[in-house]
Amino acid sequence: VVRELPDLVPGPGTVVVDVEAAGVNYPDVLIVAGRYQLPVPVPFTPGSEYAGRVSAVGAGVTRWSVGDAVMGASRSGAFAEQVEAADDALSPVPVGLDMVSAAAFHVTYATAFHALVTVGAVAPDEWVVVLGASGGVGSAAVDIAHRLGARVLAGASSQSRLELAATLGADEGVSYLDDDLKRRIRQVTGDGADLVIDPVGGPHAEQALRGLRWGGRFVSVGFASGEIPRIPLNLLLLKNVTVRGMDIGSISTRVPGARDDEQAVLSRLVAEGMRPLVTDVFDLESSPEALRRIADRRARGKLVVQMV
Ligand SMILES: NC(=O)c1ccc[n+]([C@@H]2O[C@H](COP(=O)([O-])OP(=O)(O)OC[C@H]3O[C@@H](n4cnc5c(N)ncnc54)[C@H](OP(=O)(O)O)[C@@H]3O)[C@@H](O)[C@H]2O)c1
Repeated sequence: VVRELPDLVPGPGTVVVDVEAAGVNYPDVLIVAGRYQLPVPVPFTPGSEYAGRVSAVGAGVTRWSVGDAVMGASRSGAFAEQVEAADDALSPVPVGLDMVSAAAFHVTYATAFHALVTVGAVAPDEWVVVLGASGGVGSAAVDIAHRLGARVLAGASSQSRLELAATLGADEGVSYLDDDLKRRIRQVTGDGADLVIDPVGGPHAEQALRGLRWGGRFVSVGFASGEIPRIPLNLLLLKNVTVRGMDIGSISTRVPGARDDEQAVLSRLVAEGMRPLVTDVFDLESSPEALRRIADRRARGKLVVQMV
């Protein structure tokens, strides 16, 4: 339901943001379904990513002023006209992004960048396999990897999804429902891929891992397929493969400042023209349809709920 609630009032160290747009992410679907790793107590307002303007600042806040354009992430509460956030939980909207783009940018681009660069150590000319390449995190990973000079083999469930990944710079594609993923990786890369970015999990994960070269890297980002893969460890041993996981939410809270350098590079890429691929915008009343589209695997790129 969409319902009027009293205006929020900031507490010490917090600000109130008038939300202009909220990104829709796969975890929102899991949270609403009660299937997320960290449950959110009911009742709650869905939505975990937003962009808007600071409308009130609490005692002790020096970082932000009324009117500042900010973006933020939280487990819930973003599909609303206002959110309250700790002052250190917000980032400035990069110059050049409008509010709809900013709402679609924060989570997926930060996640994809961290996976590719900080965890995956991607280098120019390397072959990167991106699974779920037309989804939110996947499309951001294709975009960033291409802009950093890597070569991208996009994996997706249909040709039309691969065409979308190609518009973001994917050099090659594999429709993994029709084609043998490991064989196709070998065919495209020769020795095998250098790096796999996997937001999907399921049976494709092991096939992609088997497509890595000796010494290759695999970054586990999520399980949009609903299936957490179990990888035989001998695959890692024999080829000196590194598998790493990452969780962008806990990195930001456990290692404050760790992502400042990443933010600077992302802002530079935005200044050079990088934009998230927003394929549809919904009003607040239609936000269940946006969630449904993601749950039913019908979404491409990013969906956004616009408040104003
Ligand atoms: N580790 C982190 O810090 C972090 C941060 C953000 C998100 N995530 C996770 O990353 C994953 C992707 O998130 P997202 O926002 O990019 O999601 P999304 O936009 O819905 O994209 C997910 C992609 O997964 C593929 N997929 C395969 N089986 C699916 C199924 N049964 N249902 C839905 N999609 C399916 C789809 O591509 P095809 O149809 O082409 O296969 C889809 O494009 C989620 O598991 C999310 O929780 C992790």
